[in-house]
Amino acid sequence: MLFSPYTIRDVTLKNRIVMSPMCMYACDTEDGTVRNWHKIHYPTRAVGQVGLIIVEATAVTPQGRISARDLGIWSDEHIEGLRTLTTLVKEQGAKIGIQIAHAGRKATVDGEIIAPSPLPFDENMRTPKEMTKAEIEETIQAFQNGALRAKKAGFDVVEIHAAHGYLINEFLSPLTNKRNDEYGGTFENRYRFLSEVIEAVKEVWDGPLFVRVSAHDYHPDGLTVKDYVEYAKRMKAQGVDLVDVSSGAVVPAAIDAYPGYQVPFAEAIRHGADIATGAVGLITSGRQAEEILRNGRADLIFIGRELLRNPYWPKTAASELGIPLEAPKPYVRGW
Ligand SMILES: Cc1cc2nc3c(=O)[nH]c(=O)nc-3n(C[C@H](O)[C@H](O)[C@H](O)COP(=O)(O)O)c2cc1C
Repeated sequence: MLFSPYTIRDVTLKNRIVMSPMCMYACDTEDGTVRNWHKIHYPTRAVGQVGLIIVEATAVTPQGRISARDLGIWSDEHIEGLRTLTTLVKEQGAKIGIQIAHAGRKATVDGEIIAPSPLPFDENMRTPKEMTKAEIEETIQAFQNGALRAKKAGFDVVEIHAAHGYLINEFLSPLTNKRNDEYGGTFENRYRFLSEVIEAVKEVWDGPLFVRVSAHDYHPDGLTVKDYVEYAKRMKAQGVDLVDVSSGAVVPAAIDAYPGYQVPFAEAIRHGADIATGAVGLITSGRQAEEILRNGRADLIFIGRELLRNPYWPKTAASELGIPLEAPKPYVRGW
């Protein structure tokens, strides 16, 4: 199944292998533009036969960058470089998505940082300013503008980053959202910000839409996968196509990570909310990926660090599974 095509809306991936979004912190000009590094890094994985490449967390506002070296999509100036990336990747037969993001209280850029509530992540991080209604509206608009620019740049998939304790995740979790207005308190109110981001994105984006979530807060008062099954039902009703299921990083917590440790969350959401899911986290072998797909635990396999170590991982996985994988023509003699 790992090498079977998968269609979402009008986009067909040639296999189920997805390059997980990974920040490169490679924008040395600190203006969010695509640099030569990105033009080498992403297309290399397309040559390596990855089905879908998701470009790293790309900031919808300068203030929402994790670091000053993040990619950005807050300005029309960013479109040209991103279009180069989509062209290069698509020329090699892969599809390409982009993760649109806002770091919230985890932003490390200069100046004021914002979050649902004025609580720092830990003693080493700054205290964010509680967002006003106007700032909430502006940020939702920034996600919409980002999605429109992604469309103009030729992306096949948009993924909204609602995981890892960044801004949207901070609204979802009761650990980080202590608001008393309609954006905080109840389960529904904490979902409101993500819900409005999805609505805004869908006004300008009709292609495949993914949302990455942290399906467990690893804290006694935090959210668990049960809550995320409910959130995923709402996402499905809003037209989200796939939930990319990660976990943690909302508050400092020790995570016992072992091979496939997040797969049960992808499985629970897939069955509980009847929505397609992506599994991610310490998936490193073709057999492991095949097991997840065949047992109906997820629809797509997201590979992170293994693809940093080995851009030809699909070839490695195919050999392991005994599947002949077509070589890029210039590489036939060495494949
Ligand atoms: C260098 C690096 C950068 C990352 N940046 C992002 C990111 O931009 N967005 C995101 O959602 N996850 C990010 N992650 C998490 C990965 O997408 C992935 O979920 C995680 O590494 C677990 O998968 P793996 O065990 O296959 O690496 C990053 C991970 C690494 C190692």
